Formats: sequence, structure tokens, C-alpha cells
Amino acid sequence: MLLHPIGKLTDAGIDEILVVTGTEHVGDVVALLGSGADLGCRITYRVQEEAGGIAQALSLAEHFAAGGPVCVVLGDNLFADPLGPEVERFQRQGGGARILLKEVPDPERFGVARVEGDRVVEILEKPADPPTHKAVTGIYFYDAGVYEIIGRQRPSARGELEITDVNNAYIGGRQMTWGALRGWWTDAGTFPSYHRANRYFSEGAA
Ligand code: G1P
Repeated sequence: MLLHPIGKLTDAGIDEILVVTGTEHVGDVVALLGSGADLGCRITYRVQEEAGGIAQALSLAEHFAAGGPVCVVLGDNLFADPLGPEVERFQRQGGGARILLKEVPDPERFGVARVEGDRVVEILEKPADPPTHKAVTGIYFYDAGVYEIIGRQRPSARGELEITDVNNAYIGGRQMTWGALRGWWTDAGTFPSYHRANRYFSEGAA
């Protein structure tokens, strides 16, 4: 599964990749990916010691990013669209952040966005009563301001630094744009979604 997002990044011309993993799987992850040489990239590793949230994992990238922008892809997100055009759009944007949305039948499982034209108005994390079907996918673009935002964050009710809070901070500063994935997208964090991912791949849709 991990090879998929890494392939998407390298296909988009991103060949300096930081992989953040928990302590439990670090050995397997390094055994699979190695230095990245066989995958056409250079891989750096950071270990997230506890389940502190996606934003906490992203904070581990600050030194790696060295003041530059980052594209973040969650390791369990699988999708058909190439990332190259979105990388270019974010670069042209010249700062701020960008998220990619996808219409889904079960938005309550995800971050859900309300948009007005080009503008993202609000993101709700796993709302019981979703206002739209626009799921926030695990593909994010950030400028170097993201680390200061994370530094000011407080843990959510589930004790994590939430990526949705980061995104809402950019929205509050009117620095967030959005795009839509055209092809299929799924996470693979539940058994049904894992099966869905396998179906997409076996249909050759990747
Ligand atoms: C995370 C984010 C959520 C996003 C999802 C995409 O959810 O918190 O906003 O929609 O990834 O896969 P999690 O996988 O942690 O439940």
C-alpha cells in the first residue's frame, strides 16, 4: 500500500520524500522502502512515538522541509489521479495551503468540506450530519507556515493534533484553495475500504 503514494509523488517529480512511521512498524517500513533508490527517490525516516495525530506527524517534517513547501500524502490513501498537475497549481499559488476533495457516499467517515466557489468555508471532522458529500482526501499541500500553526495547536478530544484544525487555520487566514479528484479515491483504514481499494486495483483502474 505504501508504494502507491510514493509512486504518485515520484511520478509528480517529487524525489525527496520523508516517511513518518510509528515505532511498531518502522523495521518493516524500512525493509520495504530502503533508501528509495529502487523507487527513484531519496527517503528520509522519522519515527512518531505515539498516536499523536497527522498534524504531529507533519511537525516532524519541519527540519526536512528546510523552509520549503510540502506535499503530504497519507500512507493509506489510494487514488487514480496524477499529482503532477496539482503540484503545479500549488506552486503557482505561491504559498498558503491546498486540499483535494472527493465526492463520497459516506462523508461522515472523513473530514467534510463546505465550499463556496473557489473558497473553502469550513471543514468538519467526521460530522454526524455532514453538510456536503465532499470528503477531504489525505492529500495536502502546505507552505512553511504550517509548522507555526501546528506549534500553536492543542490536542483534540481524542488527544491528537488534528490536520483538520491545521486546515481550518489556513481557511481562517483565507489561504486555502481546493481542487477535486476526478478519478477514484479511497482510504484503506477499514475492512470495507480495504476491499474497495483491492477492487479498484484489480479492475486495473490505478
Ligand atoms: C484523516 C483525516 C480526515 C481525512 C482522512 C482521509 O482521517 O483526519 O480529515 O478525511 O484522513 O483519509 P483518519 O484516517 O485519521 O480517520
